[in-house]
Amino acid sequence: MLATPQRDNLNKIVILNPKGGCGKSTLATNLAALYARGGETPAVMDFDVQGSTMGWLDRRPADLPKIHGIAAYKKTMQATRSWQLRVPNDTVNLLVDSPASITHDDLRELTRDSTSILVPVLPSSMDIHAASRCIADLLLVAKVDRRDRKLAVVANRTRKNTKSFSKLMRFLDSLGIPIIAVLRDSQNYVHAAEKGVGLCEMQPSRVRQDVEQIEKIVRWLDAWPDRRRGASEARSLDRPPVVRRSILRRPQFGSA
Ligand SMILES: Nc1ncnc2c1ncn2[C@@H]1O[C@H](COP(=O)(O)OP(=O)(O)OP(=O)(O)O)[C@@H](O)[C@H]1O
Ligand SMILES: [Mg+2]
Repeated sequence: MLATPQRDNLNKIVILNPKGGCGKSTLATNLAALYARGGETPAVMDFDVQGSTMGWLDRRPADLPKIHGIAAYKKTMQATRSWQLRVPNDTVNLLVDSPASITHDDLRELTRDSTSILVPVLPSSMDIHAASRCIADLLLVAKVDRRDRKLAVVANRTRKNTKSFSKLMRFLDSLGIPIIAVLRDSQNYVHAAEKGVGLCEMQPSRVRQDVEQIEKIVRWLDAWPDRRRGASEARSLDRPPVVRRSILRRPQFGSA
């Protein structure tokens, strides 16, 4: 069972999708680097035994802005779980990188008290199917309320003009879940991962287009207090939405 910290003013951003290799760690590290560049010390919490995000942090050059790392995948007998997962008091933004497959219990635990949940999705029809299952689980198992508007998709390594991308758009649209950024396929991500840096820390002329998309994600993430306020107003007017699994299964994705 996982455990995650709770604090009212903590921006807890959970990045998940049980599909391996869709870009969870890439998003976690690049968002952390962008937050760090803004002058704060963000925290990354790595729940994946592969330790990709912690490895990236180990490779991070010492002269770059600091990022606090928490190796949540490590089990220790020396400390309680909550001590191991503690987040520094002055942390404003916490990025939670999740593993490729998680149990329903872990899904509930991981997303509890989250302010935002990002689901990176690759453009193939197999990946889009997996993402729709992931979103179904978030809504039905983790009981994420769509009215909270905390759930968003990041289309990764994507070309916009494909059949499967427009089907994904229509499907998410019908659920009111936004695609907040589209990241292109670029070796910049691979080089940044190798060097322990974020794209925003690479030569600007090389990465401008990519960094703009990551900044777009940050703008959406930073608006979480407004989204939360809007959600509680909507809830006071509304009846709870009915989410049926049959609705979530409806899309038939063709190949790209
Ligand atoms: N937009 C992109 N363009 C090019 N390469 C990318 C892009 N996004 C991710 N990658 C590369 O794809 C690989 C998988 O990405 P990443 O490790 O972030 O996925 P993940 O979802 O964390 O995988 P896992 O489920 O194994 O933890 C990495 O080598 C990463 O550098
Ligand atoms: Mg990963």
